[in-house]
Amino acid sequence: MIRRAVPLGIGHYLPDRIMPNSHFEKLVDTSDEWIRTRSGIERRHFAAEGQTTSDLAVRAARSALDNAGIDVSEIDGIIVATSTPDLTFPSVGTMVQAELGMTRGFAFDVQAVCAGFIYALCNANAMIVSGQADRLLVIGAETFSRIMDWTDRSTCVLFGDGAGALILGAEEGAGTSEDRGILATDLNSDGRYREMLYVDGGVSTTGTAGKLRMQGNPLFRKAVDKLTSTAEAALEKTGVSADAVDWIVPHQANIRIIQGTAKKMGVPMDRVIQTVQDHGNTSAASIPLAMSVGVADGRIKRGDLILSEAIGGGLAWGAVALRW
Ligand code: ACO
Repeated sequence: MIRRAVPLGIGHYLPDRIMPNSHFEKLVDTSDEWIRTRSGIERRHFAAEGQTTSDLAVRAARSALDNAGIDVSEIDGIIVATSTPDLTFPSVGTMVQAELGMTRGFAFDVQAVCAGFIYALCNANAMIVSGQADRLLVIGAETFSRIMDWTDRSTCVLFGDGAGALILGAEEGAGTSEDRGILATDLNSDGRYREMLYVDGGVSTTGTAGKLRMQGNPLFRKAVDKLTSTAEAALEKTGVSADAVDWIVPHQANIRIIQGTAKKMGVPMDRVIQTVQDHGNTSAASIPLAMSVGVADGRIKRGDLILSEAIGGGLAWGAVALRW
């Protein structure tokens, strides 16, 4: 028997303000048609003025705790994946901890941009498997609307705000691919590609938060290759083939990247959870948001094999195979 990090509950929160593509037609030289056909995005949510990343994270966390039916006092630690924290420090994790009334355990943030939730899941899995924690709250939360350049049509139409939260708990497994929980992980980064996607400000450079800059087309071409190879690497570690995957829950950056990756893996699109049309790219929040939507609408069921993959600034990319 081995320790596994098993999903106990999931939840999400999306801010009330929904921005349709038509909103951007007034801001920049773009069209609903261009945004839909090039990215698959139809609308996205934006945080209200004064609403912070930790506010979104707390809402998602409460929803996951309700879904799991457990009290925050039973949680040993919080890991928040974000690149848009409320403040440079303290971490969003500790803010969420205080807001939830959790007075023991630990909290910290992980920063791997759009791959952040995959990185956070890998950390959580390692801590649970090694016995450092029994129950962890893993959150992806972002307010990318705060780092948009509203004059740059090539980026401002793509991103949205939101948060998703997953609770993982230690359970005994047989050590086979039939176990529930995280079965395999795969992480990668290559800092040589950092200029493909970055923010042009920061603490030790400009002293400002900066705005997002992206070389969309070169990144697009890298994304499909890297996502396919990391997803296949994670699957290989589980010892099962792509046929056995019930759901791909991918990072939601662009419908064409999602389709390209699924096609390369030989997984039909009716086994892919898609939320990019409603959420846009919510960076580290996109995978837990999509997973939560898939669980809430009954598509993802206990025992299903899920494969999640993401790529983002760094470049950083990775994948997780888990049985729900
Ligand atoms: N409206 C109208 N035209 C536009 C817009 C817009 N909003 N944005 C760009 N264009 C124009 C460009 O200027 C260009 O015009 P030109 O041919 O006259 O020069 C034309 O559209 C084509 O631009 P491309 O960039 O080649 O278009 P592409 O098909 O690559 O689609 C997109 C752009 C949607 C950005 C795509 O490249 C993409 O999704 N890239 C990857 C994004 C991604 O995965 N990011 C990683 C995760 S994000 C993270 O980590 C934070």
